[in-house]
Amino acid sequence: MSSSSSNSNSSNGNSPPLTMALPKGRLTEQVLEHLQSCGFRFSISRRSLTVTDDTGRLKLILVKNSDLPVYVSHGIAGLGVCGTDVLYEAGSEFFELHTFEFGTTRMCLACLADHDPSSDRGELTVATKFTRFAHDFFHARGIPVQVIRLNGSVELAPVLGLAPYIVDLVETGSTLKANNLKVTEDLAEIRVKLVCNPAYYKVHHRRVADLLRQVAAPYPHDQITQTGDTTHDPRNG
Ligand code: PRP
Repeated sequence: MSSSSSNSNSSNGNSPPLTMALPKGRLTEQVLEHLQSCGFRFSISRRSLTVTDDTGRLKLILVKNSDLPVYVSHGIAGLGVCGTDVLYEAGSEFFELHTFEFGTTRMCLACLADHDPSSDRGELTVATKFTRFAHDFFHARGIPVQVIRLNGSVELAPVLGLAPYIVDLVETGSTLKANNLKVTEDLAEIRVKLVCNPAYYKVHHRRVADLLRQVAAPYPHDQITQTGDTTHDPRNG
């Protein structure tokens, strides 16, 4: 993909580029389009997993969504663009620099379309990729829950009888509909964040602040907050 740049004077001198991990998948295109609208230009070949912008300021690293916090916490990428769903599961302590306007989804409880939740008795059984979220959400409400971990195609669980419920992301609702499922409850809003490894921020704070000014435009800058076990909860968006 290529995009236009208006920042010909933003040369990086001799410093290596800032590094930013992006999740491969449905967010990739939205992040690239956003960076393009902020003035970055990238030439990405089809199978390439890394690319540096034409001013040499920012290197993007495309990683699997759930691996993104690993790369940022190890400082392989200093920055990352990631949903609060993945951040919560990882429990990593990052500085949260910005909330993007794009990519918002819902974490939902869903079951077969003809299932009557009022007939449920005893422990709730849910299948999900988001086991930490599911445990914490239902425990916080005092609801006994058995959580079955799956790594994908979670919608199959109620269809095949593995679990009556799933906890999963819903964006358009088309995956649920195609599998004859319905949402019974919205559990949380999931937002897309720009996060930074705290040590990386300390070393590169001026350049990160410059980058933030550019990628947060035209939206107002967020206060820097910290993700992690106690300070970040996706149930609060
Ligand atoms: C997510 C989620 C659902 C689907 C919902 O999966 O797990 O399967 O998107 O989207 P919809 O409401 O627009 O149909 P994703 O496509 O991110 O793939 P994954 O299973 O690899 O996480």
